[in-house]
Amino acid sequence: MAKEKTVYICQNCGYKSGRWLGRCPECGGWNTLIESKETSIKTKSRNVLNFLSQSGKPVPITQAEEVQYIRFPSGIKVFDNALGGGLVKGQVSLIAGEPGIGKSTLLLQLSHSLARNGRKVLYISGEESVNQIYLRAKRLNALNDNLIVFSETLLERIEDTVEELSPDIVILDSVQTVFSAELESSAGSVSQVREVTYRITELSKRNDITTFVVGHVNKEGQIAGPKVLEHIVDTVLQFEGERGSFYRILKVVKNRFGPSGEMAVFKMTSLGLEEVPEPSAFFISERNTERAGTVIFPYTEGTKPVLLEVQALVLPSVYATPQRRSEGFNPNRLSIILAVLEKEANIFLRDKDVFVNIVGGVEVDEPGIDAAVALAVASSVKNKPILPNVAVFGELGLTGELRNVYFAEARVKEAKRFGFNNLLVPKSVAEELKEENLKGFSHISELLEAVF
Ligand SMILES: Nc1ncnc2c1ncn2[C@@H]1O[C@H](COP(=O)(O)OP(=O)(O)O)[C@@H](O)[C@H]1O
Ligand SMILES: [Mg+2]
Repeated sequence: MAKEKTVYICQNCGYKSGRWLGRCPECGGWNTLIESKETSIKTKSRNVLNFLSQSGKPVPITQAEEVQYIRFPSGIKVFDNALGGGLVKGQVSLIAGEPGIGKSTLLLQLSHSLARNGRKVLYISGEESVNQIYLRAKRLNALNDNLIVFSETLLERIEDTVEELSPDIVILDSVQTVFSAELESSAGSVSQVREVTYRITELSKRNDITTFVVGHVNKEGQIAGPKVLEHIVDTVLQFEGERGSFYRILKVVKNRFGPSGEMAVFKMTSLGLEEVPEPSAFFISERNTERAGTVIFPYTEGTKPVLLEVQALVLPSVYATPQRRSEGFNPNRLSIILAVLEKEANIFLRDKDVFVNIVGGVEVDEPGIDAAVALAVASSVKNKPILPNVAVFGELGLTGELRNVYFAEARVKEAKRFGFNNLLVPKSVAEELKEENLKGFSHISELLEAVF
């Protein structure tokens, strides 16, 4: 029996300390260090150690064998496309998202789709009873004999059951509710969540099972789990959407078996999630082109751009410190853009409240949106609508310069496909692509002058 020692583990980021600290030096979280008894690595299950070691030999890269992944469709087309053509045997995916976003719904529908195609699916829920899962499955029209449901939270029993049933697919909903009896900390703590994921991953790899693990996150994308698990699993899927809206976006954040940055869009209905094959048409459908403060932006973090509507609302502030709020866009980035507009384009915002919204609940985390946010803000300040056929993208530098962004050609193509023939882009993009309909600008002030 190995020696047990007391360590303090940050429940946010997994940082370990020999003594208690009020503030985590790694992530800056307050009161996040929790006392845990940690058994040394020697007592970790052998399985975990086997999985951690790849037991390969060093070889010259020219003699490496090419392994072709055998893919099979899940049957949900937009999902398969986003993953690069379907699922892979032994692939472990983490589906992270806020509570209530629709993770269980999606996975139950996915389970049904796979079961219908003859695959044996084991759906393990630590959150719901078999009856609750049954009622949901009935509502979603997802009943099938190949879909086996199991309500359990003890990892050791889950492992035994998986070995016994040898399913093709395992769903674990959610990683925060399952615990191993070998650890003393409670379910949902960083050590438990990590142990559960390691062991489920090892089990899946050894038995060629395709596995989906659900991880809850809070608004800040944290709380014991998803962040510390990302490096263990093969694929990380992030499920996003606005509360109260029906759009749901599944983003492929990491993918060892295909491209990352792709996304699948769904619509939540009472019958479950419906695929949205043309997300651009969907996201721009409710735009009011007669109003100031709205502009179209071709967004992409992968290879397939989607058109989004960027909205801004600027009005005189009644507070000493004006408000800056943004939905779907980094608020720090917004402050920088407002500062650049003031310095480089004479748009004064220091006594005004500024609100920015990306319609549809998409979280945009790429610099191409800068020019669109700047233009939408300027349009709202001036109360002048932007021509309906305008689309814009480009990164904004601190001196007001407009910079090239990746996948420019694909963005232009998607905008034109939907009739946005008046494309305002960084000068370098216009020179590179030499297409009609493209207007290149090297500075934000030039762009604003041309528009207004
Ligand atoms: N009876 C119902 N009728 C219609 N929609 C429902 C019903 N129950 C749940 N939903 C929808 O499903 C969502 C919850 O999805 P769920 O898959 O349980 O989320 P998660 O697993 O991510 O916590 C709700 O926000 C709601 O939109
Ligand atoms: Mg759920």
